[in-house]
Amino acid sequence: MAKAPRTKFEQTIPDYRRRILVALAKAILVPPLVTVLAFRALGSPFSAFAVLATVLSIPLTVVLRSRYSTWVEHSAAARLGAKPVPRVTGKLPGNFDVVKRVLKGFERGYVLQVHRDLFQEYDCTTLNLRFFWSDQIITMDEGVFQFACSSGFSHFEKGIMWHERIDKLLGTGLFNTDGEEWKKGRTMARPFFSKDRISDFELFERVSAPALDLIAARAERSQPIDAQDLLSRLTLDVGSKFLFGTELDLLSRPLNEPGRVKLGPKGSIPIEGHSELDPFTEAFETVAVRITRRGAQGPTWPLKELLSDATDDPIDQILEWIDPLVRRALERKEANRKAGITSTADEGVFLDFLASSTDDVEHIRYELITYLIAARDTTASLLTFVLYFFALHPEVCSRVREEVLNTFGTDGQPTPEKLKGMKYLRAVLNETLRLFPSAPLVTRMSKDAPLVLPASKEPLYLPPRTQVMMISLLLHRRHDLWGDSADEFMPDRWFDEQLIEKINKTPFMYCPFSGGPRICIGQEFAMNESMYFAIRLMQRFRAFCLAPEFQPAGSLPPAEWKGGSGRQGVEKIWPATSLTMFSKGGLWIYAEPSA
Ligand code: HEM
Ligand SMILES: *[C@@H]1O[C@H](CO)[C@@H](O)[C@H](O)[C@H]1NC(C)=O
Ligand SMILES: *[C@@H]1O[C@H](CO)[C@@H](O)[C@H](O)[C@H]1NC(C)=O
Repeated sequence: MAKAPRTKFEQTIPDYRRRILVALAKAILVPPLVTVLAFRALGSPFSAFAVLATVLSIPLTVVLRSRYSTWVEHSAAARLGAKPVPRVTGKLPGNFDVVKRVLKGFERGYVLQVHRDLFQEYDCTTLNLRFFWSDQIITMDEGVFQFACSSGFSHFEKGIMWHERIDKLLGTGLFNTDGEEWKKGRTMARPFFSKDRISDFELFERVSAPALDLIAARAERSQPIDAQDLLSRLTLDVGSKFLFGTELDLLSRPLNEPGRVKLGPKGSIPIEGHSELDPFTEAFETVAVRITRRGAQGPTWPLKELLSDATDDPIDQILEWIDPLVRRALERKEANRKAGITSTADEGVFLDFLASSTDDVEHIRYELITYLIAARDTTASLLTFVLYFFALHPEVCSRVREEVLNTFGTDGQPTPEKLKGMKYLRAVLNETLRLFPSAPLVTRMSKDAPLVLPASKEPLYLPPRTQVMMISLLLHRRHDLWGDSADEFMPDRWFDEQLIEKINKTPFMYCPFSGGPRICIGQEFAMNESMYFAIRLMQRFRAFCLAPEFQPAGSLPPAEWKGGSGRQGVEKIWPATSLTMFSKGGLWIYAEPSA
């Protein structure tokens, strides 16, 4: 049963059940009905032929409609001097086999490898999946990225397919709005991301210190630590302090214990027992996984959720936790107002900053959820994969360490000015975000007008109201752009002048933070936070080593990846994505202290 709307905004969310039922009715009921009426109008008697025609009218209509839309597309493309986007042609009607292949890849395959294979099979960088006869474009073309994010920005929006999947979670948050509403949210938030707020090094220190102590404590007992678990706590503590003004203090709660975990929705979770906040974090992970699965299934995902919306329970849990915080902020503001204090906006807390500009509880809550998700998982992902690469490439780790010790000594506190000099560390972060961009998929939908996409090889036709999924992870690994070493982790490439020149000319070949007007608003914040932590880490530890024997069952790379193309043959963990990148089952590593 559909749940009653929780908020005013929820009443306006497009109903996915209605959409899919109407579509099904149109496909299954209308053609036979028309056929029956036609036979009656012709006065022809009931016959086997009439029955057969009635039944066959269903597939026939599908085929005819598809042919017709293809014809429309081809002639519109020709008129605009563009080529239609190449279509995947599966073996089964509606590319049902391809849908199944993509879903299987999503569950069992190397991250986004199915898409990479499809691009390879069709020898192109932009492809129409045509799931169930509807256009769905995937791309790893720098020209298309550039157009959709920057030069053709105004022709795109997040789009109905996106909203249907994610609106209940993100509502009116910045990530989720378009047009004037988006502009308002962006303009409102920008001052908050000014220089001093985003380089709050005191905050970084306060949170990094206990995290490092935790790693040291494990190292003392010669035990590994789940770095992904630790870093997710670190970034959530930083994020919550920055956003709500309250530290959740997740770092002081029991960590995942080696050997006492199982595979959770993303990382490791304890086999038994939950701490007070775990349901909240788990709810976040669950909802992210379910929303991503909807995306992978294409336009028919509602069929699996006709009876119950898979995101309802986790969203209830998230709201239960966030709503009291919002109410308290509004009460604070009210109390201040009564006491004659006008502005609380300088306090450096995003929640108070929001509350000073609106009383809309709903909107504040959606913004908080948005920023919490955007800030936490992305930065945790970056640092997790940095540690992974430190473990895989000890020589890179040593070089970063050398740079850190030369600049800050074994104990000096990082400062914003000196961060700029950390060239090699910055190259390591760049290289990590190249191979594992924390948010590897950016989705847009064209508006009502047909468009010509300036793809790198030839102009491509994009029909109106068509979804485009841009896959930065694959773009960042293209051999024709990055050379034969595209799949290898090589921070030194960032000192290759030819490459830098190429990136300057084609900035969208590297876009871990997206680009154009909707470029990540937290980019500098994330970089400062990550560099700060990496520097502190290097001062206390000299090397890292994977602990595969502690990864929970089902989280090590499956045997069938061996010998596969790209990185899947060499990966020692199972990278996956659910809105953001993560290592399945967490990242269990040993750390070796400095002294
Ligand atoms: C390594 C860390 C991060 C990466 C790789 C990253 C990446 C991205 C990307 C690719 C987008 C564009 C998404 C789209 O348009 O569909 C984005 C948007 C956004 N990011 Fe980040 N992000 C990171 C950290 C952060 C942090 C720390 C914050 C907040 C403190 C943040 C807040 C946002 C917000 C609010 C948006 C939406 C902006 C808009 O639509 O105007 N991000 N980020
Ligand atoms: C890292 O990448 C950014 C582009 O996002 C570039 O401006 C910067 O120069 C790079 N830094 C290093 C050291 O590679
Ligand atoms: C860190 O923050 C400062 C503002 O204090 C900003 O200018 C700088 O670009 C940030 N660093 C990085 C690496 O983004």
